[in-house]
Amino acid sequence: MKYKITHLKPFGILIEADNADYHIEKLSTELLKKYVDEEKLVVIRGFRTFCSAHDFANYCERWGEISVWPFGKVLELVRQNNPEDHIFDNNYVPLHWDGMYRPEVPEYQIFHCVDSPNLDQGGRTTFTNTALVIDQSPVEWIELWKKITVRYTRKMEFYESTTTSPIITRHPYKDQLIMRYNEPPEKDIPDFINPPIIEFLGVEDNQLDEIQLQLKESLYSPQAYYAHTWHKNDIVISDNFTLLHGREVYAKDAPRHLQRVHVNSSPAFKNPGLESYK
Ligand SMILES: [Fe+2]
Repeated sequence: MKYKITHLKPFGILIEADNADYHIEKLSTELLKKYVDEEKLVVIRGFRTFCSAHDFANYCERWGEISVWPFGKVLELVRQNNPEDHIFDNNYVPLHWDGMYRPEVPEYQIFHCVDSPNLDQGGRTTFTNTALVIDQSPVEWIELWKKITVRYTRKMEFYESTTTSPIITRHPYKDQLIMRYNEPPEKDIPDFINPPIIEFLGVEDNQLDEIQLQLKESLYSPQAYYAHTWHKNDIVISDNFTLLHGREVYAKDAPRHLQRVHVNSSPAFKNPGLESYK
């Protein structure tokens, strides 16, 4: 089996099959895990993938224990009519980490692109490598961010939860500083459905605007930020401990359909900031 590996900018790799007959299951999971560990994001393109959510979930079991949600193992990310939450709208989604409101924070996100928007319809999934952000931001900004903890409260179909995290914290299993931050939605976005309540602790109110501008500049810096244009049958695996992710707005009628699975580390990483959950 032959494939080509290209480095994405500013981080991550793209693995492309030479032959459309290759099935993704033929790729070594151990090798892919090594790539995710090193590169934080792996895009796999041009392979045969999965005919059903069931098959996709079965594949993901190879990566470890799947974190099961009230809806099951596979989240169908597709726009709903009259959505009750921004996740199921076509609006943009601010940067965040998955599992922040859940008892366990998964190590891997695995996405399967069932159908993709046309190139002019938007809907890229956005990723920020927070280890790079910390390396590249001014030291005085990092020192300021280290003093700040943020409390997030969110109620949606699958949970009602409050969670707290310092902006700068440690990777659960590595000697590495990372960032945990869910940016407040842009104030000028109309109809952002069901935003979380976000409280900044350890900072004066009159500093907040400046700090949020610093964070935006750093998190969206071209040296740390990658926006993924989906192709049908792409598989994308991301390191949810190191990256933050979000979504760009997309056309209402775009055929955007992703499936997403969360895989826990071994052992599962208990959410250190969860204050309440139901
Ligand atoms: Fe997410």
